[in-house]
Formats: sequence, structure tokens, C-alpha cells
Amino acid sequence: MIINMAATMRSLVIGCCVVVFCFERARSALPIVVNTWPFTNATDAGYNVFLNGGSVVDAVEKGCSKCEVLRCDGSVGEGSDPDEDGEVTLDAMIMDGKTMDVGSVGCLRNISSAISVARMVMERTDHTLLAGELATKFAVEMGFKESDLSSNKSDTMFKQWRANNCQPNFRVNVSPDPKKSCGPYQPTESTRLLQENSRNDKGVGYLNHDTIGMVAVDKNGHVVSGTTTNGLNHKVPGRVGDSPIVGAGSYAQNEMGGAAATGDGDIMMRFLPSYTAVQLMGSGMTPSNAALFSIKPIIKFYPDFNGAVIAVNSKGEHGAACHGSGIGTFHYSVKDNPDQVNLFSVKCV
Ligand code: GLY
Repeated sequence: MIINMAATMRSLVIGCCVVVFCFERARSALPIVVNTWPFTNATDAGYNVFLNGGSVVDAVEKGCSKCEVLRCDGSVGEGSDPDEDGEVTLDAMIMDGKTMDVGSVGCLRNISSAISVARMVMERTDHTLLAGELATKFAVEMGFKESDLSSNKSDTMFKQWRANNCQPNFRVNVSPDPKKSCGPYQPTESTRLLQENSRNDKGVGYLNHDTIGMVAVDKNGHVVSGTTTNGLNHKVPGRVGDSPIVGAGSYAQNEMGGAAATGDGDIMMRFLPSYTAVQLMGSGMTPSNAALFSIKPIIKFYPDFNGAVIAVNSKGEHGAACHGSGIGTFHYSVKDNPDQVNLFSVKCV
């Protein structure tokens, strides 16, 4: 259910934004930029590309880049959410719904502009996904500068995590007990079967909410989606989340629409919610329902997971759905006119 204040005339002006609550399908004009969370500077940056005559691919790249530069809530870009070794690594993707070309990077080291490297993968290779140190090598060849992605903040987060016996911790079936002790770890003799649904809550919530996922549609119905994130705080080194995975982090297909996901990527990527939402919109479902039905299969297996999906069809109608008490109410940002960004809210199911 979308809450749209414009429709009910109950709108609240907060800074440059209007928060919108309604109970109906959200209609919009083209071009349009929609992104997860109240990252309105990113929405503005994406929309400004259209105002300046740029392309929809430029809009998604610039919008997501803005969040990388601003380090949106610490969950995007450099300087926060280190892995177990204290290193910050980035995941990003961009998908062109006209050509079905995709570029993504996973566990990118030492390069801050992950979405732009993803675009390079899309436009300068025949590949889809590059990962790790060799993705960095590619980026350097393409002219990007290497730099240390850590900061005082990420160093402090790392030290506090070590001082807290390395909690939270995402290892299982290793010794010493990862729920009590730091590593190094070794596999235990036998593999304890994980209790059903025991892996479903990593504490993803409003304050450590993650990815910016963005969908933009130009006035001709050309759909592009993108994501960028520094992933899960204290992840096992080498972990790649859902954000650079096609159909998981985002998906775009002209004449159907685009979708993007945020939340517990280790779980969400098993269900390809962005792909599902786009296919459902292609079958005529409203964006709100498509988003909802894309997360329903996840709820069945992981009733406590936290995550959200935004969905935009090629006419610019949009919606979202979310799940989990860690999020509660999910906010997303929409710009379809030169004057203001609207914030939409959905209550999580
Ligand atoms: N959804 C972002 C991540 O899990 O990495």
C-alpha cells in the first residue's frame, strides 16, 4: 500500500521535499527518477541530468554517484561499513533496459566511484560483472584513481567491532564460536544444520539501511536501473551482496519497467526480486503489487528478513513494498518535475 500525501491533500513540506501519503497507485510524468530511501540529493542529481539534456544512463550514473560522494547514511560509497579486516569494499551495477546491457562490480577495492566503474564494464567490455582486485586493475586501466576507502569512521567502527568480540558476526560452523569470539576461524568437524530461519536477521534497519537503488525512465520510456553500496557492515572479506547481481539488486527492461532492491542482500539475492517485479509489471501488474509479489516468496522462507523493493513501469507509475520490523516504514524518493522531490512511504508487511 502506497501512502501518497499529494492524493489525499495531506502533504507535509520538509526542507525541499514533500512527503506524500496515499492509498492508490502513484502516477507520475516522464522523465522520472525514483530511488530507495530519502536520498533526495541523489534524486535531484539524476533528474538534473534530464534538465541538461543528458541521457537516462547518465541520469542513473550521476544520481548514484551523488550518493557515493555524499556517503549517503554511511551505507553508500567509501568511508564506512568495513569488513572483518577493516577494509571498505564496494558493489554496484547499472542496467540499460533498451539493450539489456549490464555492467557491475563486486567487492571493488580502492576505487571510490563504483557506479562509474560499473558503467565502464557495461560500455567498455563484453562482460557483465568484474570482481575484487582485478576489477580495480580494470578501473585503473580505464583512468580511475586508486585511493584508500577507509576513514576515521570506518577505522573506529572496526576497532569497536573487535573490542565487542567481533559481533555481529556472519560466520557459522567454525571454531572458535563466532558468536562469542574473533577469528581466525577453522571449520568445525561436523556441519551443524542451521536452524530454519536462523540466518534471517542481520539487523538491517533504518539507520544502517543500505543500498541506493535507482530507476530512471526518460520521456521515450527508456528504462535504466542502478545500485551502489558498501554492503554489509563487518561482512566476511570477499562477500558480494545483491546489489551488483542482475535481477537481484536491480533490473530494467523497456516496455516493462525497472526495479531495485535494498535490505538483506544475502537473502534477497536468492529470489531475484527486481527481476520478478519487472516481469510482473510486464504482465500488467501495478508497480505496488509487483513490488509486493516480488518479496512474498522471500517472506515464506525468511519470515524475519528486512528489505524493500521499488518498482517503476515504463509510463512512470511507481510503487514499493517492504518487509521487516527493522525497517517498519520504508521511504523512497521520486522526482518527475523540475521543482521538487516527493518522498513516498509504505508500511512494511
Ligand atoms: N543490499 C545490500 C547488501 O546486502 O549488500
